[in-house]
Amino acid sequence: MNELDSLVVQAQALFAQSATPADLENAKAQFLGKAGRITELMKGMASLSVDEKKSRGAAINLAKQAIEAALNARRQALADAELDAQLKAEALDVSLPGRTHAGGGLHPVSLTLERIEAIFGSMGFDVAQGPEIETDWFNFTALNTPEDHPARSMHDTFYVEGGYLLRTHTSPMQIRHAVQHVKRYKTQLDAGQGMPEIRVIAPGRTYRVDSDATHSPMFHQCEGLWIGENVSFKDLKVVFTDFCRTFFESDDLTLRFRPSFFPFTEPSAEIDIQFASGPLAGRWLEVAGSGQVHPNVVRNMGLDPERFIGFAFGMGPDRLTMLRYGVNDLRLFFDGDIRFLRQFQ
Ligand code: PHE
Repeated sequence: MNELDSLVVQAQALFAQSATPADLENAKAQFLGKAGRITELMKGMASLSVDEKKSRGAAINLAKQAIEAALNARRQALADAELDAQLKAEALDVSLPGRTHAGGGLHPVSLTLERIEAIFGSMGFDVAQGPEIETDWFNFTALNTPEDHPARSMHDTFYVEGGYLLRTHTSPMQIRHAVQHVKRYKTQLDAGQGMPEIRVIAPGRTYRVDSDATHSPMFHQCEGLWIGENVSFKDLKVVFTDFCRTFFESDDLTLRFRPSFFPFTEPSAEIDIQFASGPLAGRWLEVAGSGQVHPNVVRNMGLDPERFIGFAFGMGPDRLTMLRYGVNDLRLFFDGDIRFLRQFQ
């Protein structure tokens, strides 16, 4: 192998070893740069004759072309490799499952509240909402609850700053809603013309100092109130029975109105239901408190108890949800465990 051939081989080898474009440019300089080997060889021709220059020059040129060709081939190879690497790095794995939006769902108790609102809505009841931070007046006094009633004790009621409390039931909404209603029809009432009946439910959060498998410090209630000139306990029975049968989608259940006491109703009754079949068959389950609205409460609504009469009830949507879905621990509703909640979507 002559000197020029071995120079080409050297260049090819060095180019092949160059792993980066920068390495390759350095390698190129050794052969084709100003102080490179090819340039040196050109300079070395100065002493040759014209003929010798011709043949030597042509040979050097061939070698130079071969080195340039090797350089370009390597440049291309490095560029291809870089593009390849980039494409690999940015590759899309089309077999990966797509990113989906986790679909939210309504909480089981919210599903129950929606159901309650829809059923009572179809019976002509309005839906009212009111504050969870209440005054003593609306939560107790206006509801005929005496100063020394145990429900007022710190053991049962959360008191907050400023003389307020967290409502212990939704019954304050009886007063709040009725007062608004009476105000709206004041002129008519003052003229002795009566007013449209008050027919309302008031669902919402309520609070008591209580916590175990069936009691949570925050829980839900739904109040019901129907006041008119001729509303009786019979109407309460019809309305509530209808509600339960629709809610549980079953005619196979019986209601029991068990005598009880509430300061704001007289007479009062706890409402129990019994399923004829299913896992709870035969057991009496308490679902609401109820009664005929006490005359003192009717008076606090701004109405004449000699003329206006009606009933109220307060039920527990949490309890209804447990019964409907067969959940046995109330705390599951408020733990926020997605595995539990997902089952209701
Ligand atoms: N407020 C009562 C309770 O929390 C329930 C109730 C409401 C009773 C309306 C009678 C009338 O237990």
